[in-house]
Amino acid sequence: IPVDLRVHLGETVAAVPPRLFGGFVEHMGRCVYQGIYEPGHPSADAHGFREDVLELVRELGVTVARYPGGNFVSGYRWEDGVGPLAQRPVRLEAAWHSTETNEVGLHEFAGWAQRAGVEVMQAVNLGTRGVLEAGDLLEYSNHPAGTALSEQRRTNGADEPFGITLWCLGNEMDGPWQIGHKTADEYGRLAAETARYMRFLDHRVELVVAGSSNMEMPTFGEWERTVLRHTAELADHISVHAYYEEFDGDAASFLASGAGLDRYLDTVAGIIDEVLRELGLDKQIGISVDEWNVWYQRDWNENHKDSVLSGDWPQAPRLIEDEYNVTDAVVVGSLLISLLRHSDRVSMANLAQLVNVIAPIRCEPDGPAWRQTTFFPFALTSARGRGRVVRSDLTAPTVGTSRYGDVELVDAVSVVADDGSVSLFVVNRSTTETVSLTTELTGASLILQDAQVLTVPEGGDRFSTNTQTSQPVAPVTLDGVHCSTAGDATRLSLTLPPISWSVLTLR
Ligand code: AHR
Repeated sequence: IPVDLRVHLGETVAAVPPRLFGGFVEHMGRCVYQGIYEPGHPSADAHGFREDVLELVRELGVTVARYPGGNFVSGYRWEDGVGPLAQRPVRLEAAWHSTETNEVGLHEFAGWAQRAGVEVMQAVNLGTRGVLEAGDLLEYSNHPAGTALSEQRRTNGADEPFGITLWCLGNEMDGPWQIGHKTADEYGRLAAETARYMRFLDHRVELVVAGSSNMEMPTFGEWERTVLRHTAELADHISVHAYYEEFDGDAASFLASGAGLDRYLDTVAGIIDEVLRELGLDKQIGISVDEWNVWYQRDWNENHKDSVLSGDWPQAPRLIEDEYNVTDAVVVGSLLISLLRHSDRVSMANLAQLVNVIAPIRCEPDGPAWRQTTFFPFALTSARGRGRVVRSDLTAPTVGTSRYGDVELVDAVSVVADDGSVSLFVVNRSTTETVSLTTELTGASLILQDAQVLTVPEGGDRFSTNTQTSQPVAPVTLDGVHCSTAGDATRLSLTLPPISWSVLTLR
């Protein structure tokens, strides 16, 4: 199937926000305990954190990590996680029906984030707590010295403030599953008052108000409008959470998830503009896609949720440890294409989550850590997708999908890095057809440096996965790419296998 792509290297759409390559560490299942943290593990550092996992986090190219939840944060007392370990309380954790030992808290996570080279994005509890507790956490974290809370932090071992800039005001408050679930008006008022107090305490903070949990929520749209009417003057970002999965073998719809995310982002961007206009505010509010991924949520809801939420109170249980296949990885790659394309509106994004829990990195207690299939598109996009997104025009046939209607068979985005190199990210959504892609890049005479494709491995199928003992899914060299130049234009021709995600870099 022939597809044509024109890339206009001189026409910048937007700079790519480095925070687009964020991750998410929740006190859930084995993300923290037996994930990033396992004191007895052979690779554990002096603080009890696994070096092998940390190495993979660095390789993944994560820039910012949202912490400590998620649903967890809505029942969390941050004070439980600071101070001498022996005095930290053990608590029932009601969001995931687990026992929380509080061995890892603010100090431990901030130290880990520093060693990982990632910014902390801290969430405050607006489910069961409020303005004062959020302010206390901010003062404890960011005030240099001389007050009760800042001196408490110093006594607890952090002489210097943590300097946390980025704060989430609650999590998924629109969802009835959320501890302390609220109406849009209730949440909007609380978020506004919390934001005001936090800014009084530290004017440098950047604040994310909670948008909808997904686009199918009955309150979607009205929730954003109402919350923004309360908070637009004070908020810097509004969140979007988006999870995708394959339903009943409908691979065509699943592979078109990027089109679903495009619509979600465009709708939220429209609502932001509408409310800013209505309020006469001359400012920008970014979209923080602070939870996104493939997640087989129907399986969790139908087969596990009820028993987990009424069962025992285990420590670090195995929860939603989805094993990702080739198709999932291609979808993750295509969602990244959608995020990059929306760099003008999306200010940050966090792949949910980082380790074990619906994660690109898996590990076993006392055992190895390994890369899931979804690791690769994220790592390659983070490595090559920094710079500015440029305009591109695609001419491709469409494929009919039951979830998203007619969707182009191919999707692509192009990024020019500061050093002048250009990376094209391309997905072939067809389950059966090979695509012949011809591309013309106008504005520079370039040489192909590298072309990689993630697709069905030899001897495997679209359901192939990476496990503890065997990891057959990884990008391979995309052979047969022809590159030529004519004046200040560069031409490429290549073939893309069905169900594939590719990245080509030229210089
Ligand atoms: O990432 C898993 C869960 O998904 C988070 O705790 C919650 O915010 C969302 O529903």
